[in-house]
Amino acid sequence: MLESSRVLGSFGLAEQKVNPASEPCVMLIFGASGDLTKRLLVPALYNLACDGLLSEKFALLGTASGALTTEAFRESMSVAIKSFHTRKEFDQSVWDNLVSRFHYVPSQFSDLLAYQRLRGEVSKLDAQFSVGGNVLFYFATAPRFFGLICDNLHRSGFKDGPGWKRIIVEKPFGTDLASALQLNKDVLSHWEENQIYRVDHYLGKETVQNLLAFRFSNRMFEPLWDKGSIDNIQFNVSEAVGVEGRGGYYDTSGVLRDMIQNHMFQMLAYLCMEPPATFSADAIRNEKAKLLQAVRAYSPEEVSRYVVRGQYGPEAGANGELLKPGYRQEKDVAPDSNTETYAAARFQIDNPRWEGVPIYLRSGKALWKRGTEIIVEFKKSAAERFLGTAVDDVGSNRLIFHIQPYQGIEVQFHAKIPGPTLQLQPVNMRFSYGDAFKASRYTGYEVMIYSCTHGDATLFSRGDLVEAAWRITQPLLDYWKTAPASFPNYARGSWGPVAASTLIERDNRRWFELVTDETLKKIALFKDAEPLFLSQIVMALTPKMASEGQVILKKGDLGREMYVLVRGQVEILGSNGETIQTLKDGDFFGEMGLLLSTPRTATVRARTACDLFVLEQGDFRRILSDHPQFASAVLTVAKERYDLNIQREALLK
Ligand code: BG6
Repeated sequence: MLESSRVLGSFGLAEQKVNPASEPCVMLIFGASGDLTKRLLVPALYNLACDGLLSEKFALLGTASGALTTEAFRESMSVAIKSFHTRKEFDQSVWDNLVSRFHYVPSQFSDLLAYQRLRGEVSKLDAQFSVGGNVLFYFATAPRFFGLICDNLHRSGFKDGPGWKRIIVEKPFGTDLASALQLNKDVLSHWEENQIYRVDHYLGKETVQNLLAFRFSNRMFEPLWDKGSIDNIQFNVSEAVGVEGRGGYYDTSGVLRDMIQNHMFQMLAYLCMEPPATFSADAIRNEKAKLLQAVRAYSPEEVSRYVVRGQYGPEAGANGELLKPGYRQEKDVAPDSNTETYAAARFQIDNPRWEGVPIYLRSGKALWKRGTEIIVEFKKSAAERFLGTAVDDVGSNRLIFHIQPYQGIEVQFHAKIPGPTLQLQPVNMRFSYGDAFKASRYTGYEVMIYSCTHGDATLFSRGDLVEAAWRITQPLLDYWKTAPASFPNYARGSWGPVAASTLIERDNRRWFELVTDETLKKIALFKDAEPLFLSQIVMALTPKMASEGQVILKKGDLGREMYVLVRGQVEILGSNGETIQTLKDGDFFGEMGLLLSTPRTATVRARTACDLFVLEQGDFRRILSDHPQFASAVLTVAKERYDLNIQREALLK
């Protein structure tokens, strides 16, 4: 194996080092009967075992208040693993070996005597599996128990003896700045910071870890990584699911605490931090904390200007019938809840590298699609250079990190359209994880458990970073407590509240929306389109949202773009404001002005909130001339509308 990788290495292919197994230890899980253990922790241990990365000197001791026996615990994990393992094929022998090392002792977290029983069991397993006294405590419990368990572990002597003792704690780490400070104090009153491993499962994602590898191993981008070349950065985490039975927890949390304060700020720190001196845990965590400390904490006035929130309402069918409930109708959610299920913000990093570069973040539940992307938008090249050519505007280059579910990196740039004159078209280059690497799908927890056993804290949050993240979040929480929310303000399955669109449009920018072939195929106009056409149109469409009653285009104005209505209804208005026609999902409008180069022939107003794709004039003409099928579909509709207009005007006269 080593021999062949050496040969490959000499051909210029990467020579992958063989990873050692995890360090020996007993893993003591508090809250072992909960969801996290069976859905993520045990499947992660199983993946490590399958890949030869779990030490043979390993045992798991589960504890929770439920009065289970070891046999019953093993049995329930053996049932659960069948549903939650992430491998293509299940390896029964690996599982049998792993589960035979699982044990269970019931306990109440407040009962000091129970800790003595746990200690006795840990010592037994320590001797049986020769783990050298190493214990990994995993707190898969509600945060209110963290301080108590830390305290009782200390009081019952768990810190003593040979080997290392480390604690992994799950999020949320605090519910606001004050509680996070208190929690840090409680946890650190008997334990050292280097024993505490705060999990943020986003750091377990390969695509997130790759942000650092990408930035600091590829010289071609790092010199451009600042306000000189970058116009803005967008972070987007969209979820298609609602609260999925977690209403009780979510109603006290909201998207700001649930996603932005932790997962999104981690990605922000990776993307924008200064280069660390080395790749050591301390060096990286120092730079991450410094970056978050430089994010401006907003005044109430700034919050009102730069942050918007939303809450999803029900999803209605074409005839107004209820398809899915809104947030306030979800189980365990207050019927008048003001918890936000969506937020969008423009942040500012006050350091010399990022001064003046807007950082946009948005995340929400019950949106039209699931997808996490980071978009680095570069400044535009000077269009003046192209004077005298057919090019009148040069768009931006973008570097896009596709975090999930599609995993890849994309560069969008411009290329000359083949032909005798100079014309540009946006094109892209893509690297896709699936094409480049052959690896099993991981849960994200493998690397967390593995690196904790090796004492590598790189992928865990340090106390100062958590506090810095709460310091940015707190003014938003404070402001929202006092300002009234007009919820619900977006429909389930839509693109989110219109206010999010307005937030960025005020800066003359637009959210980058990942348009895929699948998205387009849902629209009648593009349903049977050929792949080349789809790839061109995917690059050309930009999203726009309109609120109910908003005039999208006005009669007499110059037409510069055409619209595809993805969701919602618009009315085409006659000269006296009467409705001539109502358009629905999948229809398009605004094509006439572009085809005839005449002013808009009618006003179009949103009848409901609308999600729209915009196709600019230049792209419209280019695509029209390259794709006769598209041209004829648009022309047929345009002609019908034109004839209708002529008839109407003749009648009116
Ligand atoms: C969790 C949140 O931390 O992250 C959930 O509590 C959210 O509400 C989840 O759905 C998203 O994680 P992922 O890995 O699916 O993006």
